[in-house]
Amino acid sequence: MWEQRGPRVGWAGMATLGLIGSGHIGGTLARLAVGGGLDVVISNSRGPETLAGLAAELGPRARAATQAEAAAAGDWVVVTVPLKAYTQLPREALAGRTVLDTTNYYPERDGHIEALDNGSTTSSELLQDFLGESTHVVKAFNNIFFKHLGTLARPAGAQDRTALPIAGDDAEAKRRATELLDRLGYDAVDAGALAEGRRFQPGTPAYGPPYAKDPSRPFNEQEAGPASAAEIRAYLAKS
Ligand SMILES: NC(=O)c1ccc[n+]([C@@H]2O[C@H](COP(=O)([O-])OP(=O)(O)OC[C@H]3O[C@@H](n4cnc5c(N)ncnc54)[C@H](OP(=O)(O)O)[C@@H]3O)[C@@H](O)[C@H]2O)c1
Repeated sequence: MWEQRGPRVGWAGMATLGLIGSGHIGGTLARLAVGGGLDVVISNSRGPETLAGLAAELGPRARAATQAEAAAAGDWVVVTVPLKAYTQLPREALAGRTVLDTTNYYPERDGHIEALDNGSTTSSELLQDFLGESTHVVKAFNNIFFKHLGTLARPAGAQDRTALPIAGDDAEAKRRATELLDRLGYDAVDAGALAEGRRFQPGTPAYGPPYAKDPSRPFNEQEAGPASAAEIRAYLAKS
């Protein structure tokens, strides 16, 4: 995992990542954030005391808190829970925030949601509808296996830097999301409006394989391989 060395200019006042969900993806993002010089507030469903181990591992930049505290503290808030839990999120505490949504719909885990089964909407649009229009949802980090997310991060300008797709309806929120990705070690590819997130949902060519060494083999059984912005655009065009 890479580590940011020295202070960076241009980040004044944008220094805390709030995480709702601190499992495979949330924990990985927390490690990248600490490595990138951000403060981190982690939370889960069971309460801060159950996150003492992860908080200790992350060190002095991290603290465990309630979901509402993580939402309030974060300059960015990442929601990274099983999709079925989205209606339990702290809606009021998230009002007005930029929310990055990593969730994916897996009916076997989440139960069937008709509007997703019939393709009339997407999981991120469901979350956006639930949170309301003052909160700006950006779909991000959902199409990469957590182990690959942990190992492919590189400093800005690195030749083998990897790109991740983002989708959202608010240009400013996407700009902020792009800043966060950069801080965590990734380039961003703007896939368009939130509805375009369907291009990198589970089952699409852009979901998983781009970040595996051999994209023709199951992505979660192998080592990571970098994917450039041009490659990600090509995958999105295929979806
Ligand atoms: N695993 C991957 O490689 C991967 C990759 C991309 C996207 N995703 C997606 O990202 C999301 C998270 O995946 P994951 O693998 O990180 O899951 P995970 O390891 O099972 O972690 C889920 C986290 O969400 C928390 N949580 C569950 N219900 C909650 C609620 N009602 N309120 C607040 N927090 C709650 C859990 O806390 P408790 O343990 O306290 O319940 C846990 O910290 C999923 O939608 C998944 O499909 C996963």
